[in-house]
Amino acid sequence: MSTPIAKQYILDFEQLGLGMFVHWGLYSQAGQGEWILHYNEMIKYNEQRRQLGLPEEEPPVTLITPEYMKLKDTFTAEDFDAEKLVLTAKAAGCRYITLTTRHHEGFSLYDTCGLNDFDAPHSPAKRDLIREFVDACNKYDIVPFFYHTTLDWYKKEFSENFDEYLEYLRKSVEILCKNYGKIGGLWFDGNWSKPDADWKESELYATIRKYQPEAMIINNTGLELRGTTGDIEIDSVTFERGTPEPMDREGMPKYLAAEMCQTVNDHWGIGKADLNYKSPKELIENICDCRKVGANMLLNIGSEAQGAVNTYQNHLLGLVGEWMKIFGEAIYNGRPYPSIGIGKNFILKSTDGKSLYIFVYNLGVVGSKDVVLEGRYIGSYAFGNVTDKIKSVEWMDNGEKLDFLQGKDMLCVNFTGYPYGVSYIVRVAKAEILE
Ligand code: GLC
Repeated sequence: MSTPIAKQYILDFEQLGLGMFVHWGLYSQAGQGEWILHYNEMIKYNEQRRQLGLPEEEPPVTLITPEYMKLKDTFTAEDFDAEKLVLTAKAAGCRYITLTTRHHEGFSLYDTCGLNDFDAPHSPAKRDLIREFVDACNKYDIVPFFYHTTLDWYKKEFSENFDEYLEYLRKSVEILCKNYGKIGGLWFDGNWSKPDADWKESELYATIRKYQPEAMIINNTGLELRGTTGDIEIDSVTFERGTPEPMDREGMPKYLAAEMCQTVNDHWGIGKADLNYKSPKELIENICDCRKVGANMLLNIGSEAQGAVNTYQNHLLGLVGEWMKIFGEAIYNGRPYPSIGIGKNFILKSTDGKSLYIFVYNLGVVGSKDVVLEGRYIGSYAFGNVTDKIKSVEWMDNGEKLDFLQGKDMLCVNFTGYPYGVSYIVRVAKAEILE
């Protein structure tokens, strides 16, 4: 058995490291997450069942209602500024953005070119929002990715004539692959809704390859099948809201990347009353945990009704960006390294093989000695399995040189603490390798 050789575009994807996920659609106007249609329908459905004395259950199908369709008439997109969105991502240290071109509700932010008029150009917005998005990405050197639903509440064919639906899906995706220039990839979501159906994936992916031979093809396997592989054209496994596991590529027919998506609170589409935002600590640790095993992190925000990003999410991403400005190099260029550290500490090796990045969690403040203070420490800590010979070690944020000792495969570094007034959550030291 051997490890498969990676295609260059998959390696390039791995080096993007951090992406911004954006959920925006008609549902954003309700401000209660992207599943609001389904939840409202489920409540109505079960009210009827209760009157008939039947137990509650998931409705067999969810279909868009005339009332929900009206959200299109108030969709102006007046606050959507693609460049501003792209700059928000850039300031957060993200190198790519995955935007919902069409979510489960079936409304397209792109021009469906006559497939139907349930799209942004036929709404009061009267614009092709995906065109604006791609242009802004290209302008600021951010790679555009298209999220596209496969589960559809708008097309009744989804439950009544599945083959016809699949053809509609394929044509929709063809438009996205043909009309917007080179894109980073497609991110599908919803095959988990019909686990036993024949999704004819090879036809869909062949359409993509025809126009975008080097696009990443990703298909979210959902919560229960995290990290599992599927069709041979798929280029990355997904770990929705999970902890990515180290990839064992031995004997795999193809080298796959890994990506974990996480959202800032408990919803993907904006939840106006969802105050359960994650802290910068959770997000930064999440990014590091992903990179430890070589996975990308796709961090989601939900745009507001007409496309703006609210202040809190902007600030949260801004804090992530402050960290990325200092330590981003380790996130983009660092690849998994077999070393073992104490606690959550770990090491990555740079893609050029010249440096190691040493990630240190729970570091204390200078002067607190090497005693445990609220679970924090400073002082000497060892890493096993370090076979590279080290020339020097220094903190990436202030360049302070760190004393170290090396014996056999052991590296021991004396981690001075944070200067008073500083706390980076995870601090990274860069070690230069002896040639
Ligand atoms: C789940 C949800 C979907 C969301 C996606 C993001 O599949 O159904 O609403 O877009 O996760 O990963």
